[in-house]
Amino acid sequence: MKNEKRFDLLYEGKAKKVYKYSDRKLLVEFKNDVTAFNGIKKGQYANKGKINKKISTFFFELLNEEGLNTHYLQDYDENSFIAKWGELIPLEVIVRNYTAGSFCKRYGVEKGIKFDYPLVEFSLKNDDLGDPMITKDAILLLKICNKEILEEIVGISNKVNNILSSFLDNKNILLVDYKLEFGISKTDKKVILIDEISPDTCRFWDKNTMESLDKDVYREDKGDLINAYEALIGRLAI
Ligand code: TMP
Ligand code: ASP
Repeated sequence: MKNEKRFDLLYEGKAKKVYKYSDRKLLVEFKNDVTAFNGIKKGQYANKGKINKKISTFFFELLNEEGLNTHYLQDYDENSFIAKWGELIPLEVIVRNYTAGSFCKRYGVEKGIKFDYPLVEFSLKNDDLGDPMITKDAILLLKICNKEILEEIVGISNKVNNILSSFLDNKNILLVDYKLEFGISKTDKKVILIDEISPDTCRFWDKNTMESLDKDVYREDKGDLINAYEALIGRLAI
């Protein structure tokens, strides 16, 4: 990253680092590391950070244009962008349109079954606990956020689904499922969509071949991760 030493590192996750850019802004840097199964499987791929930054930027810009409040502000360098500072709500919001991944394992169903409506699930964001699933009532009773904020989170998650699913459908790609994170903006205390939207955090399937264009390629040893991510970039024409 350019002038790395100018910024204080606030947080380092498995695939990103977050720096303090200013009192109200963060610098989000995408690493080349990849992990799966709560960090049990680990790897590194040259250019992965750059690729995920590019895809995430593209989706955040699309959502911003559609009027959603995301943390993305502007490009910084190859691996990083400047974002609104959102105080993290420690939840992972999973939206599923088709069965896949942990849903299939949990309920013993085959993958690729289309749901009649999007399923919204929640996990507590806590690596030590392995991000356990959590119910809406437990979220409220543990005061992780209040009811209004939770309803807003669900509303935004469904809007993201409508916008991205129809955009990707035009590119012959199915948005199978994805994970979102939210924060409270330091500036105006509004709920904002934070984190990333990338093939690390979504499942994208080619509509005709059902081939994965996402991290399942790495999770399930189905081929080269960079080839899959670059194929996605090609399909998005970005
Ligand atoms: P899952 O089927 O493993 O629960 O994953 C559902 C979606 O959430 C999938 O698109 C991958 C994404 N995801 C993350 O972004 N981070 C995670 O830690 C997990 C478990 C899933
Ligand atoms: N992101 C999680 C991990 O690093 C899980 C996953 O995406 O499969 O372990």
